[in-house]
Amino acid sequence: MQTLPLTLMVLAAATSLAQAAGDAERGRSVAAACSACHGPDGSSPSPAFPILGGQHQEYLVQALLAYQTGTRADSIMGGAVQTLTRQQLEDVAAYFAAQKGLAGDTGSSRPTGVQPTGGGGITASLSSIAAAGSVADVRAPSPSPVELAACPAKGSKDRDRDGDGLADAFDAAPKDAGEFARDADGDGWYGICSAEQLQTIQTLASGLDLATRNTRRYELVQDLDLGTIANWTPVGNCGAGNNCMVARDKFGFAGALDGNGHTLRNLTINLPEAGGVGLFGTLAKTGVVRNLTLENASVTGKGGTGALVGANFGYIADCQASVKVVGRLASGGLVGGHAGQVVNCHVRGDVSGQAAIGGLAGDMNGIVRDSSADVRVTAGKGVGGLVGLSTTGKILHSRATGVVAGADNVGGLVGFNSQSRVRNSFATGAVTGKEAVGGLIGRNNGAVRNVYAMAARGLIGDNSGGSIDTTE
Ligand code: HEC
Repeated sequence: MQTLPLTLMVLAAATSLAQAAGDAERGRSVAAACSACHGPDGSSPSPAFPILGGQHQEYLVQALLAYQTGTRADSIMGGAVQTLTRQQLEDVAAYFAAQKGLAGDTGSSRPTGVQPTGGGGITASLSSIAAAGSVADVRAPSPSPVELAACPAKGSKDRDRDGDGLADAFDAAPKDAGEFARDADGDGWYGICSAEQLQTIQTLASGLDLATRNTRRYELVQDLDLGTIANWTPVGNCGAGNNCMVARDKFGFAGALDGNGHTLRNLTINLPEAGGVGLFGTLAKTGVVRNLTLENASVTGKGGTGALVGANFGYIADCQASVKVVGRLASGGLVGGHAGQVVNCHVRGDVSGQAAIGGLAGDMNGIVRDSSADVRVTAGKGVGGLVGLSTTGKILHSRATGVVAGADNVGGLVGFNSQSRVRNSFATGAVTGKEAVGGLIGRNNGAVRNVYAMAARGLIGDNSGGSIDTTE
């Protein structure tokens, strides 16, 4: 557990839900010990302390257990719950769940707390950590590369003299196996001619340091077959702690990759115990990936798994992907955890996992616009044709057309739309599940406008706290 980002640990905990058998009345006396920080009714006076009122009971129980066992490390909370019995945990959770919390406070003036949930959720989502830098609506893309004419011809004798996987014409030191891609035409974009060259952004053993490699701009000069690399190492990882959401800008890829319209085929990743898994593991806030197609990507990871980016804080635009993604938590066809922007991207294929699983994105508080997923999505809870779980996110002009199947919080477009916006979007796939199942959204407490769904399940499974306006 220690290796997963906070949000994913929380999710992990939330997946083994047993219905909490707490007693809110008994819990009231336990809660007295919490009120100094969380407030008597759980609507804490300070953004430093999460709002507990109105939070899902099962979520609270799992969070408390995680503090008690240390899988969620926090010195304050670890101490606060240490002496409580399991029954007391259940009771205090029941008490706070029964309070009003944010549901009675629709104002958005509240500063970002540690866990700005309140309306309740199957997870606190990555919003809590990512919200520190809020996502602007539109980001001006950096200037485009001048497209390079061609890569060196295959089989030419001097193609890669030092055997470092970098074609000579693109190798700053063609006779030194420790060197790296070159900006052959001087446009500020480093040309990529081979799978190995793309891979060495992350894995180059000597020479140019990783920080420099991770902040450069690259362009694809031709289509590449990534199948020559049996198990791709995600570019821009989450560091040794594997803590993508917390460590984002420290390790994530912060440069740019412009595909120039080219295709990357046969990406294969099999890292079932890792977080932040994709062509890029973590894309930092300044990171840009655009103008490319992923064809036949097959990616397996744990938390934060997506064919293109595992944990995204950056800007992804004009892309297409055909995928098979197997994640466990916060995983999606294109991106896993999504706190950045996805614009004009289209995904098809197959995505499966446990919780917060979506055809395009798993767990998000970012923006998805002008995008689509035609993906068969199969998971447990928080399952959506486009997005599994959206917390304070925005989905605009987008659609999902795949078949969606899960247990609860299952929607043709979004599994759980928590305090998030959905506009001018629709879903057409068949949706099946047990609880909170909707043709468009499984559970909604956000604002939904000008939408439709074709599935027989109705628009929204559970709309408590949400609003729908189908007129533009
Ligand atoms: C001295 C202040 C303090 C006291 C007392 C305290 N807490 Fe906390 N609590 C915090 C802080 C700080 C966090 C955020 C820690 C983190 O980031 O994981 C937190 C987090 C939590 C969370 C996780 C919320 C979420 O959204 O993930 C729960 C649940 C919680 N506390 C319950 C309790 C309960 C129940 C008690 C009383 C038995 C209690 N706390 C007492 C400070 C306190």
